[in-house]
Amino acid sequence: MERTWAISGVDLHLDLEGPRLRAALEAGLRDAVSSGRLGPGTRLPSSRALAGDLGLARNTVADAYSQLVAEGWLTALQGSGTRVAARVARPEGDARSPAAEAAGPRTRFDLRPGSPDVSAFPRAEWLRAARRALAQAPFDALDYSDPRGRPELRAALADYLARTRGVRASPDRIVVCSGFTHGFALLCRVLRQDGARTLAIEEHGLRTVPTAASAAGLAPSWLSIDEEGAAVAELGDADAVVLTPAHQFPLGMALAPRRRASLVQWATSGERLIIEDDYDGEFRYDRHPVGALQAHAPDRVVYAGTASKTLAPGLRLAWLVVPPALVEPLVAARMLAERHTGVIDQLTLAELIRSGAYDRHIRRARLVYRRRRDRLVAQLRRRAPEAHVSGIAAGLHALVDLPPGLSEEQAIARAREHGLAVIGLASFGHRRAREREALVVGYAKPPEHAFTGAVARLTATLGAGTGRINRGRARRGRRPPQGQTASRS
Ligand SMILES: Cc1ncc(COP(=O)(O)O)c(C=O)c1O
Repeated sequence: MERTWAISGVDLHLDLEGPRLRAALEAGLRDAVSSGRLGPGTRLPSSRALAGDLGLARNTVADAYSQLVAEGWLTALQGSGTRVAARVARPEGDARSPAAEAAGPRTRFDLRPGSPDVSAFPRAEWLRAARRALAQAPFDALDYSDPRGRPELRAALADYLARTRGVRASPDRIVVCSGFTHGFALLCRVLRQDGARTLAIEEHGLRTVPTAASAAGLAPSWLSIDEEGAAVAELGDADAVVLTPAHQFPLGMALAPRRRASLVQWATSGERLIIEDDYDGEFRYDRHPVGALQAHAPDRVVYAGTASKTLAPGLRLAWLVVPPALVEPLVAARMLAERHTGVIDQLTLAELIRSGAYDRHIRRARLVYRRRRDRLVAQLRRRAPEAHVSGIAAGLHALVDLPPGLSEEQAIARAREHGLAVIGLASFGHRRAREREALVVGYAKPPEHAFTGAVARLTATLGAGTGRINRGRARRGRRPPQGQTASRS
């Protein structure tokens, strides 16, 4: 029989063994459904398309489908084709999303830091930018591309970063990557290849930072943090340092001007590298914006920015502005990994920036988050006056020191009873000894309609009466280094 290939329909792989093709087809389909390989609701190819693909007569496939419909494995409804029946039980051991199952008791509110309000993602503007970008893109934009990223995006970022953060950027020194962590991990590898052994890291910070450094073979050396930010005097003979100078994560202070100066001096005098993580550089509220450190030593500083706070973490788009000497080794490392980030998202972001829609979105978001921050501080002051808020002059999170007598574990458990997810400062401490009991509250995360409820749960967690929980528990060293406090010190 001549084999015909239908263009319409969907692909389906089946192993047909034995001389009796119809029986083999039925058995193959039954097995695919009962094993869970074809999930409930999956649309099967039309009998004509599948017959063409398998080189069978159309009636053979139609008969097999009818038999499986009669047995309840499949459904055939006018207009929606043949599908796997919904009532087929999930096979044993086929756990649904482990993340969903691990979530435990239902949390209706979430004040964990790290994400912006993704429900406010500018979908319409993004779609418009994507349409324009794709319409204008040359054919070769969809081919393998420059590992540094699309030239359109690097040019847009160079202008944007120079304008908004004072970064000394030229497109040829920008490397677009899939998130800060990805870019940082590549940098660590490059540093290690170049002979670096130690990387200085702030003692509180993002969990993945020391993990990525160790994975690349760099030994961490810790920098303590006080009210002026990272103690740069402790840098010693580290080969490089990674830090969050504009808004320490998660304590929230800016690196004091004289420390910025000594940091630059340390780097330039010894040919060392500073990795400046400017993760929330766009969100400044009260004070005069702190510009990028990179501007003071573009040949010794890698500036790292991300779209994870301004747009959405799910985009996986970030950028490094690197000293000229690092471009080539970074590109070589990139070639061995995933080569480059997806070009359509890159072109879309370039168009979003170029058209001004990115600035407008950030300005709108900044206003919303500033109001949220003020409401959070006011509510805590009113309903949980013993909780102390700091680190709020910038960014999307606040540090909330707990009322006396309440530990992080107790606060987290109590919040969970209220349906609220929160994280304690201890989760971001790289050194073991805990010095203060605090929550890192991500006030940007809830969608707008859930913000009031989330704050009410937080104040109920921390408010009057919480001190009576386990009063006997000794509090360890309350309120050491303060960042910008609620009284805007
Ligand atoms: C300190 C810090 N740096 C960088 C990032 C951004 O990481 P990414 O770009 O990988 O999403 C985050 C996100 O939470 C962060 O907290």
